[in-house]
Order: sequence, then C-alpha cells, then structure tokens
Amino acid sequence: MSILEILKNNALVLAPMAGITDFPFRVICKELGAGLVFSEMVSVEALIRDHKRTCGMLHTDPAERPVVFQVFGSKPASMAEAAHIVSQGEVDFIDINMGCPVPKILKSGAGSALLRNIGLAKDIMSAVVGASKVPVTVKIRLGWDAKNFVAVDLAQAAESVGITAVTVHGRTKAQGFSGHADWSMIKQVKNSVRIPVIGNGDVCTARDAKRMMDETGCDGVMIGRAIRGNPWIFREARQYLQTGVVPSPPSLEERQAIMLRHLNDLVKLLGENIGVREMRKHLCWYTKGLHGGAEFRERINHLDNAADVKREIADYFMSVTGSTMASQQV
Ligand SMILES: Cc1cc2nc3c(=O)[nH]c(=O)nc-3n(C[C@H](O)[C@H](O)[C@H](O)COP(=O)(O)O)c2cc1C
Repeated sequence: MSILEILKNNALVLAPMAGITDFPFRVICKELGAGLVFSEMVSVEALIRDHKRTCGMLHTDPAERPVVFQVFGSKPASMAEAAHIVSQGEVDFIDINMGCPVPKILKSGAGSALLRNIGLAKDIMSAVVGASKVPVTVKIRLGWDAKNFVAVDLAQAAESVGITAVTVHGRTKAQGFSGHADWSMIKQVKNSVRIPVIGNGDVCTARDAKRMMDETGCDGVMIGRAIRGNPWIFREARQYLQTGVVPSPPSLEERQAIMLRHLNDLVKLLGENIGVREMRKHLCWYTKGLHGGAEFRERINHLDNAADVKREIADYFMSVTGSTMASQQV
C-alpha cells in the first residue's frame, strides 16, 4: 500500500521518539488507533557495526504494521548500507532523521545539522533511496533558525530524488521544542510538492489534529509529546475525525490494564531489569494529574522487580477507585 493510501485510510501518525516509541508502545498506539507508527531513531553507524542493542531496536511484528524505521547518520555510504540492512526486515518504510537538535547528534553531522547542508542532505536521500528495498521518507524541521528556512527547498529536493513522503516539524533547530510550531510553513511545504506531507508540532488533542489538517491541507498528522502516558489520543482523534465527537477518556480500569500490559511487554522484550527501569517514566506519565499519583510515582521509582511494580499498580488503582467511590458517596 502506498503511504498516501495508508494516510487516506487513517491520517494519524505516531512520531519517532527516542526512548519512547519502542516496539511495545508502538503496538499499543496502533491498537488504539494510530494509522502509521515510527520507530525511535536508530544510529546507522551502530547498526553497521552490528551493535547488539541497536539491532534489537529493529524488532517488529505484523501487529504494528505499517511501520516506519527511522535512521540517522551523516555519511551517504553508511546511510545506504544501513538502509539496505533495515529494508531487508519486515518494514514498510525507512525514514531519514533531519530534525534532531541534540548536540551529540549534531556534532556527528546528522539530524538537524543536515538542514545547513542541503547538498549533503540530497546526497544522503539519494543514496538511501537507491539502496533501500522499501520506500523512503524524510523528517525535517523548518530550517536551522528563523533566518534560514529551508523546508520548501529541502522537501522539493526530497521529491526530486524519489523520497515518498516528507514530515515537517513546524519549528527550527534553534527553537528546539520551545515556542510554537508554525503550521503556516507546513502549509507552504504542502503547496510546493506533490508527495504526501505529514504535519507535526503541537498537536495535543483530537481537535488539534483536525485543525492541523484543515489549516495546512497536510495528508497526515504526526503526534509526539502528547502521546506520553496517553496513547488514547489516537482513539480520540480518530473518532473525532470520523464523527466530530470526542469519545470519553479511558476509564481507570482501562488505564490500569494498559499500564500492566505495557510493563509485561517491555519486560518480555528487554528482560526484567531494563524493562522495569524503562517502564518507570511511562508509569509516571500514565498517572500524571491523577489523584495520589505523586505518591505512586515516588514508590515505583525505587522498584526493580516487575512483581513489586505490579503490586503497586494494583494497590494504587484499588485506592483510587476506592476514593473515587467514596467521594461519589459523599
Ligand atoms: C523525548 C523525545 C524524543 C524524540 N525522539 C525523536 C526521534 O528519535 N526522531 C525524530 O525524528 N524526532 C524525535 N523527537 C521529535 C518528535 O518526533 C516531534 O517531532 C516533536 O516532539 C514535535 O512534535 P510534538 O509537538 O507533537 O511533540 C523526539 C522528541 C522528544 C520530546
């Protein structure tokens, strides 16, 4: 299926997020309504060296497809070699990261650094398209800073070398994650290329997703930070796009069930030690704003053992449900 068909069927896209959009979380988002899911960014240099943990990041399963695996790097030859390796797996698309503003990545010439060198960016895209067995997408920012917007030029360069879709995060590298995403620039990119454009930046609710589509004409809406502790945003946005009605938020029972399932899946994939540690931040996000959440977070952040964490989750929800029922009786 082409990326346009995928997005026409369901325009909601899970953003690539290092340390968050691993396999278990992608499957959860998919089941709750995401149409297309992106992996965390994967280092091509580590991949080529056959780094064990990096190769583990390529784990996938039919349950999450269609899936996009994102790679980052700065050398066309290495990028091509990695694209060849990745595209031999069960993946639907390879994405090139041209937006990461993290200093370590920039120093290596990858991520947002490529926004300052369109010639190299084009060579990389061309090399990856040539070496990949699956279609290739690219994720960009507006430019290095407000004086250097390159999104339109870069998207056109992408189209000219055979890139199949472009995601535009409506911020510059200089903005990092601060300020507001400029959706008018996403619209400009959409109007300047024929390939599908996925808009990204500051979509926090179901209504934002629809507003971004209406305001920019983009083909897909990518959601990043708002998914932390809230994979239900996909269900809400999907239903809102289809019916104009936002469904109720998840019940406490459903929240508890997803937290337990997420923990179990992470432990299964990464082993108990790493799985439990990786799960801590998710548990904090899942309980943000909930009654008694601060005490729960304090307790689970000291636990290393999955059985103890499960017990804390059960006790916590028992107490919240109890207090909810108690407050209803008052
Ligand atoms: C913790 C974190 C990790 C991220 N990791 C990646 C990544 O691996 N690759 C990427 O292209 N963008 C990454 N991003 C950027 C997001 O994909 C997205 O572009 C950005 O958060 C803006 O969208 P939002 O406003 O919906 O959050 C990351 C962002 C955050 C906050």
